[in-house]
Amino acid sequence: MKELALNILDIAQNSIAAGANQIAIAVRESVAADRLTISVKDNGCGMEPEFLAKVTDPFTTTRKTRKVGMGIPLLKMEAEMSGGELRIESEKGKGTSLTACFKRSHIDRPPLGDVAGTFMVLIQGAPNLEFTYTRETDRGAFQFSTAQVRALLDGVPLSEPDVLAWIRGYVEEGESGVL
Ligand SMILES: Nc1ncnc2c1ncn2[C@@H]1O[C@H](COP(=O)(O)OP(=O)(O)O)[C@@H](O)[C@H]1O
Ligand SMILES: [Mg+2]
Repeated sequence: MKELALNILDIAQNSIAAGANQIAIAVRESVAADRLTISVKDNGCGMEPEFLAKVTDPFTTTRKTRKVGMGIPLLKMEAEMSGGELRIESEKGKGTSLTACFKRSHIDRPPLGDVAGTFMVLIQGAPNLEFTYTRETDRGAFQFSTAQVRALLDGVPLSEPDVLAWIRGYVEEGESGVL
């Protein structure tokens, strides 16, 4: 994938497919530590340890027995190719937490892309779920949660174009404050 924002979209879609109603997305970037970390945490159905092992290492089994896609292995490969790693913690019935870290300055580290745009696509597609988005740099942290605005909206769906546009502006402005 060209941009990490698209990987984030894919990973968060896994969370939605897993029945999560709370999904936390975080992008943590440190020039000082030369790290870029993206994480997606959900309260979905989780995975059994045995299944988790197959998901993270596509080479332990064959395509026939592993009827799953390539979203996670692809992100793992991209992280490892840029001096980082992918970690997943998952508990059946509780949820899943996925973290991909990259050496920020690595030549093969994909660009971050439009994470705020990804966040909008997720809200538009699943307006009843609660999402949080955290953007952290050496300069500080910005956090947005759908629950905050939902409380103010008095039943108006988050997928309303006006609401989405407002959220986008708010997130982009908040993010730019720490960039
Ligand atoms: N957050 C998650 N919660 C529960 N199961 C997950 C989660 N993420 C991935 N999985 C499981 O791992 C499989 C592989 O995910 P992925 O590599 O993204 O491929 P795909 O989504 O195309 O199946 C999914 O089909 C799903 O069974
Ligand atoms: Mg997927």
